[in-house]
Amino acid sequence: MGKLEFPKGFLWGAATSSYQVEGNMHNEWTEWEKTSAEKRAKESREESWHDSWRGYGKKERNPAFSKEASDPNNYFSGAAADHFNRYEEDFDILQELHLNTYRFSIEWSRVEPEEGVFDQEAIDHYKAMVVSLRRRGIEPFVTIWHFWLPVWVAEKGGAASEKFPEWFARYAERMAREFGESVTFYVTINEPDIYTSLSYLLGFWPPEKRSIFGHFHALENVRRAHKLAYPKMKAAAPHSKIGITKQFMHFVVLQKTPWNLAARRFADWWWNTSLVHALEGYQDFIGFNYYQKKIIGKDTRDQSAILHTDISWEYDPESIYDALLAARQYGLPIYITENGLADTTDRLRGRFLIETLTSVHRAIQEGADVRGYIHWSLLDNFELDKGFWPRFGLVHVDYATQKRTIRPSARLYARIAETNSLETEKEAG
Ligand code: BGC
Repeated sequence: MGKLEFPKGFLWGAATSSYQVEGNMHNEWTEWEKTSAEKRAKESREESWHDSWRGYGKKERNPAFSKEASDPNNYFSGAAADHFNRYEEDFDILQELHLNTYRFSIEWSRVEPEEGVFDQEAIDHYKAMVVSLRRRGIEPFVTIWHFWLPVWVAEKGGAASEKFPEWFARYAERMAREFGESVTFYVTINEPDIYTSLSYLLGFWPPEKRSIFGHFHALENVRRAHKLAYPKMKAAAPHSKIGITKQFMHFVVLQKTPWNLAARRFADWWWNTSLVHALEGYQDFIGFNYYQKKIIGKDTRDQSAILHTDISWEYDPESIYDALLAARQYGLPIYITENGLADTTDRLRGRFLIETLTSVHRAIQEGADVRGYIHWSLLDNFELDKGFWPRFGLVHVDYATQKRTIRPSARLYARIAETNSLETEKEAG
């Protein structure tokens, strides 16, 4: 195939989020850990509809991790990857890997631990991170709110409260004012619809609600929160580029019955386009998170030929091409803000990067205005309700010693970032 060149100025990066890597915080999820760890450890031994929905069905569960998953300690984030104290070391790694952007999130519970009371020391910590990135020539890509809330927000009704948009916008505006000229890219809210689906519809995440009405109500509030924050942040930082991140999915029909085709059209509208349309005029870019396609109707493929990652998600580096082509319709620049896989032994990650980036390059050739690729994740981290055992990092973290080890796939990624191109035959060989 030869050499695939990426557009000039392309951003190459890696992402993390506060709760998943920083360690030692106090928020809604650290409270939830105390009441749910035992239950989650026990559930990991049983097949439940929760498992099958996320693709963790018993048949597909990787027995290699059953010991870790059934230990309650797996579900306490604790010191996580201690990124709060070790960010300089981690930024040195970014630099060593030739990455020119870093997506990270601000921990709302640190910055505003009580309603309306901002902690300047915590704010200064994040400002110091930005300075440290800039010193290394790395563009900060700042997420204001990933998935978890300060305890006071959760206690006052969380995203379901009518006040939520105001609380959020006040905090977001403050951060934009504090960062001033030093930050250009902001993600206000990470995956609003994943958040409300898992927290309010399916009840897997705090506050563990299961209600369709509750889900739509919370989603509407979260949308309002973004729309209220957007102009305030723009006024505080007129140069800034602001968007949400959205987990897009490519829906595939194998048996083209009228019902399946109609279901695919509906799923595509419901999951992919409706949220983007609802935020029209309030986004400067598409924050494109992508993990895997979804089959609508019967999956007639030879299952033995399908590879799975450690958490049983399908190994699927190609459908990002279709999803990116579909995203051309929004007419906005696209930043791939998350994409990656749980792969403890690094057996698939290198190949995944090559195949994914080949698909991204193809989409760019066909008019998708992709301006950057940010891999999830820089570090192994606390994978939300699954705890520590799934390892998404380009960099391995030994949680006992906090030692970082750059995985071979990260070295391969570094060569791509450094040359802004992909030598397909060479990399593959
Ligand atoms: C989330 C991350 C998470 C990743 C892998 C994304 O939806 O933004 O926080 O770790 O998926 O599950």
